[in-house]
Amino acid sequence: MLGQQPVIIIRENVDRTQGYEAQRSNINAAKAIAEAVRSTLGPRGMDKMLVNNSGDVVVTNDGITILDEIAVQHPGARMVIEVSRTQDEEVGDGTTTAVILVGAMMEQAELMLNKKIHPSVITRGFTLGMNKALEIVDKMAIPVKADDKKTLLKIADTAMTGKSIESIKDKVKEIAVDAVMTVASHDGKISVNEDDVQIKKQTGASMDDIKLIRGVIIDKNRVNSEMPKKIKNAKVALVASPLEIKKTEVKSKIKISTIEQVSAFSEQERNSLKKFADAVLASGANVLLCQKGIADAVQYFLAKGGVLAVEDVPEKDMKFAARALSATIVNKADDLTKEMLGTAELVEEDDDADQVVLSGCSNPKTVTISIRGSSVYLVDELERAVIDATRVVMDAMEDGKIIAGGGAPETELLIRLRDYAISIGGREQMAIEAYAESFASIPLTLAENSGLNPVDILVSMKQAHAEGKSNAGLNVFTGTVTDMVKAGVVEPLRIKRQAIISSEEAVHMLIRVDDMMVSQSSHRSPAPGL
Ligand SMILES: Nc1ncnc2c1ncn2[C@@H]1O[C@H](COP(=O)(O)OP(=O)(O)OP(=O)(O)O)[C@@H](O)[C@H]1O
Ligand SMILES: [Mg+2]
Repeated sequence: MLGQQPVIIIRENVDRTQGYEAQRSNINAAKAIAEAVRSTLGPRGMDKMLVNNSGDVVVTNDGITILDEIAVQHPGARMVIEVSRTQDEEVGDGTTTAVILVGAMMEQAELMLNKKIHPSVITRGFTLGMNKALEIVDKMAIPVKADDKKTLLKIADTAMTGKSIESIKDKVKEIAVDAVMTVASHDGKISVNEDDVQIKKQTGASMDDIKLIRGVIIDKNRVNSEMPKKIKNAKVALVASPLEIKKTEVKSKIKISTIEQVSAFSEQERNSLKKFADAVLASGANVLLCQKGIADAVQYFLAKGGVLAVEDVPEKDMKFAARALSATIVNKADDLTKEMLGTAELVEEDDDADQVVLSGCSNPKTVTISIRGSSVYLVDELERAVIDATRVVMDAMEDGKIIAGGGAPETELLIRLRDYAISIGGREQMAIEAYAESFASIPLTLAENSGLNPVDILVSMKQAHAEGKSNAGLNVFTGTVTDMVKAGVVEPLRIKRQAIISSEEAVHMLIRVDDMMVSQSSHRSPAPGL
């Protein structure tokens, strides 16, 4: 107020929530989001069935997939979903864990706000706690070598346990580990480019048909049925520009299967078209992938020469093929030489799937995982599982560090952070203790989702960790507390680190909000309380 005149600084049509209400609203939102995915955590977690406006159905237990599908308006809730998205993008797994942690931390923050502890004390304590938490998990980490296939298989296994594709898990983990080990680059340090593992999905057939192709799959048929369908010891030419001439005197597109039909072109055109085919044949190629079109007459000559050709191959697939086959993409067919060709043991058209499969490449820099399944839902869930499995293997290979799963790190944090809090003292001590307490949410949820008594399990877990058994976690199948590393339940360290960092960052931001202004156009339902 200036004098008696009210000063209006925000425009109309803005919903404003302030102070305690704003904090309460964000806390409720975070808790609600965590609640939405809680029941899916762990090997005994359940799946969710989601149906969107257009009636598409998704059945999944993948945290980020669930949250992506549910339309959420609340700005605080959207920030929590962002945590899950970051987790997915950065490390590819642990999306449910990260969101449950945010929910639990917000719940702890609420208790402190109720005790009139200032948000800045809470955030300071949480940040101290986070830094210590990272130190603690780093200490728990176990080194893993990039060629330690046995351990990498365990990591892939942990990431997939409990998904609905469980029945073929053993096959999938072998494929995921082989795929990543094949494309990993060992230049100084190990790095893996996610894009070098391509997933091609098809409905039909069974999930058991999953295959690792040391090569590439092009989602197209051969361009001409006169061409061979299968070529062994393939020499593959990759050409970027079209194998056709811009304007022909022959107006309509005709199917050419005899030399007489080729005569319909003028002699000059005939010669130019034949030259395209001759250039390919002269290089020694018996397979051609062309990024653009191949004229009918050229197809005719190529077919005569025994070449299997595919036209209009997307640029992305061309580049991928070049790395898989160790080939060079040439701009014009004329530029082709023997050295530029790639090799594949077998190139074959699978006309059931409308695909041309180029497999058996020696030393490929890219590989393809071909997945099948009887329904779209299954294929999609299998794809998510394959992505999770390959991502965790990549994480572990790149960092060379893994950590026990089954709630072991979270229980260790719960115990060690409390000790740390005491060493800090003062008001921050309370905040660090509250931060520590939020990690109990993971073992508790794992136990609950396995039909076990969460409190009893947590007591046994804490007991084991207090005795120095830092890898003690919950065997969800037997209900006993055991050494998770010995049980083979291990995860990349990077997953835990990322979940610790991104959950704290989101909570930090949310607690500091004491004023929420939502303009009418950007939200359709009342924000507070979800
Ligand atoms: N065999 C097992 N025994 C005990 N715990 C396990 C086992 N396999 C996995 N876990 C634990 O389950 C938790 C992971 O569960 P889940 O994969 O459902 O969620 P997430 O990885 O957090 O999220 P999402 O996979 O949806 O991105 C981790 O704490 C992991 O250690
Ligand atoms: Mg997971």
